[in-house]
Amino acid sequence: MPRVKVAPSIFAADFADMPGAFRLLHDAGADCVHYDVMDGRFVPNISFGPKFIEDVSAKTEIPGDTHLMIDLSPGIDAYLGQKPSYITVHYEASAEGPDKYIDMITRAGKTAGISIKPGTSPETLAPYLDRIGLILIMSVEPGFSGQKFMPASLGRIETVRKMIGGRDILLQVDGGVCRENYRDVIAAGADFIVIGSAFFKDKDPAGWVNEIHLIG
Ligand code: DX5
Ligand code: ZN
Repeated sequence: MPRVKVAPSIFAADFADMPGAFRLLHDAGADCVHYDVMDGRFVPNISFGPKFIEDVSAKTEIPGDTHLMIDLSPGIDAYLGQKPSYITVHYEASAEGPDKYIDMITRAGKTAGISIKPGTSPETLAPYLDRIGLILIMSVEPGFSGQKFMPASLGRIETVRKMIGGRDILLQVDGGVCRENYRDVIAAGADFIVIGSAFFKDKDPAGWVNEIHLIG
């Protein structure tokens, strides 16, 4: 098992060619498929919903990772019984905070993750560290693929890596990761990187994933 895992974001693929996109992920040796769910409320864009994830995840052996950029109540229910084993909610996505949603995800037998937007302090994660299996640091404002990585994210990744300490929590980074910055993102402490547009545009995605897997 490589130390650093790669999850291409299917949102950045050509929706008119899902079989081609999944072939590419498979041939590249991707560890996970990242499903970006957007509801046009929590973020100013709409992507896809539960039926899409259900249909495509049934046709692949690659594990799934669902990133919910949605108002959580009651939107989360439709995702709990699905195949993807990681479900990440946004700290900012509910008035009452993520507690209840972490419990719902965990009770459904999934690994619960919390994501924070670039403007949210990493300290907000402190009360949840013993109850989650994944933290997702957004390195762009959520809502769109193809944005530029925010350099201030590197310090945030370092901070969260220290907060995690010896706990068994994956540290995922999402937004603007590309050939030019992925080594810095990993050096700062990420061990699960989401790559959207840069993956699908890359001339040799299999070579790139292999390079990431060789980082010890
Ligand atoms: C943004 C999404 C990301 C995005 C990644 O809201 O959460 O997963 O699709 O795409 P890139 O890597 O192009 O920023
Ligand atoms: Zn995402």
